[in-house]
Amino acid sequence: MTTQAPNGTSRPTTARGVTPRDPAAAAPAGRTILLRIKRCDGPGKASRWETFPVRVEPGANVISCLQLIAANPVTVDGRRTTPVAWDSNCLEEVCGACTMVINGRVRQSCSCLIDAVAPAEGDTVTLEPMSKFPVVRDLWVDRSRLFQAMTRVKAWVPIDGTYFQGPGPREKPATQETRYKLSECMSCGCCLEACPQYNLEPDPDRWDTAFVGAHAISLARLFNLHETGKALAPDRLDTLMAPGGHSDCGNAQNCVKVCPKHIPLTESIGAIGRAITVHSIASFFRS
Ligand code: SF4
Ligand code: SF4
Ligand code: FES
Repeated sequence: MTTQAPNGTSRPTTARGVTPRDPAAAAPAGRTILLRIKRCDGPGKASRWETFPVRVEPGANVISCLQLIAANPVTVDGRRTTPVAWDSNCLEEVCGACTMVINGRVRQSCSCLIDAVAPAEGDTVTLEPMSKFPVVRDLWVDRSRLFQAMTRVKAWVPIDGTYFQGPGPREKPATQETRYKLSECMSCGCCLEACPQYNLEPDPDRWDTAFVGAHAISLARLFNLHETGKALAPDRLDTLMAPGGHSDCGNAQNCVKVCPKHIPLTESIGAIGRAITVHSIASFFRS
């Protein structure tokens, strides 16, 4: 539905005829907000909260606020402290490195606009590191377990790229379409942070039997659907049938609600569950 704007252009309205709020247009320019940050000096150290006043301009994101704090790390009560540490890379919601919990919701700090989460003068934004990964320092966490899970499910296409092997097998457009959506995963960890079955496990010796999570299950589906990648499908399904695999999923469906790339994670969990059933019956008759 649209309404006519004074300049003659149309703009969208909701079913009740209300024009959706444009946070950037509504937010006052040059206001001061508070960033309340959960801080930690290093692995195993106690955490504490510190609050910083930040002068923001329209269009500022959480990372630009952290940069202002890094330049002048003074708390709201005037105490000089250490700069806050965080991780980031692409600054366009592609790498997943800047993922943190913002006002209680896990998301990327580079794409989180202050005008949307703290639109008024004096509003507070709360920043915490993800709780399912060990803290390196402040808002920066170590996501190594997430990447180890990718090797656990062999999330790759097994080809030797050192010589020309001719054209690859043809892929059906429908499969391509399914795989394209799954391939948008940026390994950010949001789905793992939100999952009640995925818990903090700092001991790498236990990663092979701890729950692998929706992210790796979906990547297994992505590569099992690939015409060349499917050569490793039996290995992937064996892994996902083992402890810490698919059966550890409690079907709470939190993962799919928080995925910033809208990856159909519960659909992937269902598809891998069906593939495991077929694979185990086939393995039984082969043995
Ligand atoms: S599936 Fe979504 S939430 Fe999970 S790691 Fe990939 S992009 Fe992030
Ligand atoms: S559906 Fe499974 S993977 Fe997703 S949040 Fe629930 S338990 Fe975790
Ligand atoms: S910096 Fe890459 S997703 Fe935010």
